[in-house]
Amino acid sequence: MALARRRFDAVIVGAGGAGMRCSLQLANAGLNVAVLSKVFPTRSHTVAAQGGIGASLGNMTEDSWLWHMFDTVKGSDYLGDQDAIEFMCREAPNVVYELEHFGMPFDRNPDGTIYQRPFGGHSAHFGEKPVPRACAAADRTGHALLHTLYQRNVASRTQFFVEWMALDLIRNSDGDVVGVIALEMETGEPMIFESKVTVLATGGAGRIWDASTNAYICTGDGMGMTARAGLPLEDMEFWQFHPTGVAGAGVLITEGVRGEGGILLNCNGERFMERYAPTLKDLAPRDFVSRSMDQEIKEGRGCGPNKDHVLLKLDHLGADTITKRLPSIREIAIKFANVDPIREPIPVVPTIHYQMGGVPTNFLGQVVAPKNGNPNTVVDGLYAIGECACVSVHGANRLGTNSLLDLVVFGRAAANHIIEQKLAVQGSRSFPAGGGECTVARLGALDAANNGERVQDVANAIRKTMQSHCGVFRTGATLQEGVRQIDELAQRARRVSIDDKSKIFNTARIEALELENLVETAKATIVSAAARTESRGAHARDDFPERDDVQWMRHSLYYSDGNRLDYKPVNMKPLTVETFEPKRRTF
Ligand code: FUM
Repeated sequence: MALARRRFDAVIVGAGGAGMRCSLQLANAGLNVAVLSKVFPTRSHTVAAQGGIGASLGNMTEDSWLWHMFDTVKGSDYLGDQDAIEFMCREAPNVVYELEHFGMPFDRNPDGTIYQRPFGGHSAHFGEKPVPRACAAADRTGHALLHTLYQRNVASRTQFFVEWMALDLIRNSDGDVVGVIALEMETGEPMIFESKVTVLATGGAGRIWDASTNAYICTGDGMGMTARAGLPLEDMEFWQFHPTGVAGAGVLITEGVRGEGGILLNCNGERFMERYAPTLKDLAPRDFVSRSMDQEIKEGRGCGPNKDHVLLKLDHLGADTITKRLPSIREIAIKFANVDPIREPIPVVPTIHYQMGGVPTNFLGQVVAPKNGNPNTVVDGLYAIGECACVSVHGANRLGTNSLLDLVVFGRAAANHIIEQKLAVQGSRSFPAGGGECTVARLGALDAANNGERVQDVANAIRKTMQSHCGVFRTGATLQEGVRQIDELAQRARRVSIDDKSKIFNTARIEALELENLVETAKATIVSAAARTESRGAHARDDFPERDDVQWMRHSLYYSDGNRLDYKPVNMKPLTVETFEPKRRTF
């Protein structure tokens, strides 16, 4: 039986901040736009972003987009592409004012301007002192942003396909992307979404780890689809550990706590970040703070009976500031750590939070891949934006607040490019005969499988391996063993089955499909990490403790087929200003 097929000008996979900023722009331009989402749009993981969105508004103290750019380049440990970073930092004030005009409920200063707080790695005068740059809606900035964009999209008649999971990209014989095949989660029926433009906005894959601040929906679906389509994944070895996840629970405690004046203490009550980062202290970038915490714990200065965490103290901020600026943090601390931060410190550990790598794109959001000697050849018909994309503005380490910024800057930029180039109004590219049939065969094989392993057992084993073999500090030996284990788990993932009782509920089928994406992302991460024999940003090798700009000032490109790696140069040339040359990072 022929697969059901619908046609759109643009199909966007994912309804988080990036997807909905993009769809809004396209829908307002009169295009016929479909947004596919595994969950109700306002439950997308953007909702969990807490502390703020970075923009040099200068509402509290003097600021400039060039300082923001400098901080982002230095924060990235010089692996970020400087054209894209300049573009993002220059656009930041515009996109924040646009959000304000959409109705986003930012906190306000007494003079009515948007409230801003300091955040890790953001500084004034090229690293001199912290600067308040994070535009905040209390500690629920992502929640405010997502709801604002959803309401605007509804008003603009974006068509949402809620609880639909995209399974695979469809490419024609020229390699152009002509749509996706997706599954309606309620019925289990697949359908083809043919489109002139397909935009991946599927978020990250933080669920390849055991301890993660990410929602359970973050299973790397965009990366899986891209890898299966034969396209590369960029810089997947770079994963950010957020310094303050609740110990034992993994729930995020915003860096905004330290922005408001909270401090980290070891078991001696020492504010140890003063030793590691004398200027920015607790507000050094996350890779720096996470490694410092890990070091304190390793050297026996951790807290608690097992000396396995440090403490985040904020009681000195006072009850008024905590309840006004950090209300959700108080609630999280009470519920998940059983402490009221108005009186007691919160036990915290570095916890997986964000992937800097992803689907390679240029700063217009177009997916690029090597072809005929050009590492940045555009894949026609395909865009990627948000956490699933590697633009690369975050390089080897992202600064806090630059993730929400990335979503709206590049969501909007991709849409503007699609509109300006009239890409979604030109005639369709040829749709391949039998497009989507391989995916349908895969679904059939999954349903027919019997007596295989449980999906959850394989998924849990992947998380355990990633956690123990690819942590804050890594070595060649642990990474090589990790590659071996993940390869073995990839084989096991092919032999899973769903028992008949679970088949009644498509959730079991969805988990099995998500497992395929977890596998692709975990393989890309650990293979890329094992190959990079240097320490840069969030990739810290005990056996190669120095950054090596001669060998490694380049982006990794991972191909799933044969675990193959390729590399391409970092773009050091900004759009209009001078290059920020690599220097040793101190804070
Ligand atoms: O700490 C936080 O509020 C997280 C922000 C971010 O990842 O940008």
